[in-house]
Amino acid sequence: MCCGCRFFVSAVPNRRNKKMAESMKGLKRTCRCAEVTKADIGKKVTLMGWVQKSRNKGGIIFVDLRDRSGIMQIIFENGPISEEGFEKAAKLRSEFVIAVEGEVMARSGAVNENLATGELEVKAESLRILSEAETPPFPIEEDSKTREELRLKYRYLDLRRPDIQRNLIMRSKVAMLTREFMSKEGFLEIETPMLTKSTPEGARDYLVPSRVHPGNFYGLPQSPQLYKQLLMVSGMDRYYQIAKCFRDEDLRADRQPEFTQIDMELSFVDVDDVIEVNERLLAKLFKEVLGVEVSLPIQRMTWQEAMDRFGSDKPDIRFGMELTNVTDVVKDCEFVVFKNAIENGGTVRGINAKGQGGMARKKIDKLVDFAKDYGAKGLAYIAIHEDGTVKSSFAKFMTDDEMKALIEAMGGENGDLLLFAADKNKVVWDTLGALRLELARQMELLDKNEYKFLWVTEFPLLEWSEEQNRYTAMHHPFTMPMEEDLQYIDSDPGRVRAKAYDIVLNGNEIGGGSVRIFDQDIQSKMFEVLGFTEEQAQEQFGFLLTAFKYGVPPHAGLAYGLDRLVMLMAKQESIRDVIAFPKVKDASDLMTEAPGHVDAKQLEELGIAVIAKEEKKAEDKE
Ligand code: AMO
Ligand code: AMP
Repeated sequence: MCCGCRFFVSAVPNRRNKKMAESMKGLKRTCRCAEVTKADIGKKVTLMGWVQKSRNKGGIIFVDLRDRSGIMQIIFENGPISEEGFEKAAKLRSEFVIAVEGEVMARSGAVNENLATGELEVKAESLRILSEAETPPFPIEEDSKTREELRLKYRYLDLRRPDIQRNLIMRSKVAMLTREFMSKEGFLEIETPMLTKSTPEGARDYLVPSRVHPGNFYGLPQSPQLYKQLLMVSGMDRYYQIAKCFRDEDLRADRQPEFTQIDMELSFVDVDDVIEVNERLLAKLFKEVLGVEVSLPIQRMTWQEAMDRFGSDKPDIRFGMELTNVTDVVKDCEFVVFKNAIENGGTVRGINAKGQGGMARKKIDKLVDFAKDYGAKGLAYIAIHEDGTVKSSFAKFMTDDEMKALIEAMGGENGDLLLFAADKNKVVWDTLGALRLELARQMELLDKNEYKFLWVTEFPLLEWSEEQNRYTAMHHPFTMPMEEDLQYIDSDPGRVRAKAYDIVLNGNEIGGGSVRIFDQDIQSKMFEVLGFTEEQAQEQFGFLLTAFKYGVPPHAGLAYGLDRLVMLMAKQESIRDVIAFPKVKDASDLMTEAPGHVDAKQLEELGIAVIAKEEKKAEDKE
């Protein structure tokens, strides 16, 4: 009987189509296709799965049978199988679901070296068609060329592809090993609510209307941050959770509106303790999933050093091409671009693209356009050809000595391309940081098989938001300032560094965390600097502030983006490839067509009225 859900499934077979849906009665699968080994030769097996392809060669039919483990070749021949069975086999088409009983044999024909089971085949003795299938809208094959929109519309078929199945199997293994490790290390797995209070800091919240409290909304959690801190107040000591998080922000290849964190919090610890346990977790995951040794301890770099050397707080350190600050070298030159930038408190920095001095002008112009996408007003360059001649967009504004000094400061040699950005530090870093990565891509410097981890530490506590005309927390408002910088919190808040850290892998931020404020006075000060009035702080975070009055242990934590971690482990370009049912750029689900309209009745119950855009415009005008 149906439980009352809307997806009622008819139990009556559709006889008019004469579909041959046979039952499983009396059959039991003995193993999966690729679990059959040479040691099984001569044994009887019962396999079940999907027909990958079927070739009828007259008296003999070859079927590739697929399940999540892989493929097994099945041979149907009159004799081992009855005449009736053979006729049934002749009807098999791609994606039919079948059960086959038969004997494992060494392959009689050519061995298929591309298959784990390429030396084996199963000679069928009986066949049941468990379910027929229409022709799928695209072929089920590895490295699919089908466009993603179509694949996502039929995601359940897309998920039959062996490569994406491997990703999900890897993800499951990462989750399982994480649980094993965390449990051994004394972490308790505790669930925290999905229906929570909306807090305006950070990204936009997804809201859920309350029926019982019309006009009131829950917020879906952007992370379990506040709850895990409260669990520390509760004395849970070490907590972890593989938690769903929701953020209504612009999507990219490494961002989904709902994603998963491996989230943790520890009591009575400082930065080094969190780093130490996480290094062992990462080492275990990489060893047991990929067979890769992560050499410990992982390199650490302060945020300032990361920005100065790589123009990024998540530097890819698989290659060099570091930034050089040449402000001092060019400070007296007449090139207005450099001069103005320095006079406005900015800097001039450059990167040396080794061996790219011969780059065509058109290609350099493309790099200039690329730089502009990152806020730069332009990109100045010096191309040193192999014969030592120099082409530059600004040489005419410089003396020979100034050019020489600049090239020398950049370590420029024959054949090099030197690229410079001049602006406020943030623009220069963003531009050159991105350009460095773009050039590395073009120059093929990125080795997919290399895993370079890096801890980035000592982040600024605050960042200035031009939009909001106030400081915002760089990590979140509960992050502890470094003790030695607390003295600047009133006089120069931008200078205060935080006890915050990110774990970076090959230029991707795979996780981040911090030591938390556990002192009420510092927490109040933090809210004050962030522009919260006392009432606002009470209204938003009163429960946390109250909790802290009753004895709070020093605590710290970290959260990984599980999707990003698995994406990198599986060498994928997008987290969509490691999420079973991802959303697309506009945050919709192409398969279920969520988000969707709801009944007027549902809205009424919630006390919500939806105003159509045109109506709203008219209303606003009034
Ligand atoms: P943070 O906001 O840095 O920290 O998030 C932790 C990690 O989650 C991943 N991540 C995402 N992955 C996919 N899609 C997204 N939209 C997305 N946003 C973030 C990133 C990131 O490093 N509560 C703190 C952690 C703490 O302080 O303990 C937090 O959420 O890999
Ligand atoms: P212009 O005199 O404006 O043509 O600029 C001369 C060169 O300086 C061109 O190659 C510009 O791309 C480059 N340029 C302009 N603005 C900047 C900037 N902020 N930083 C670096 N180069 C710039």
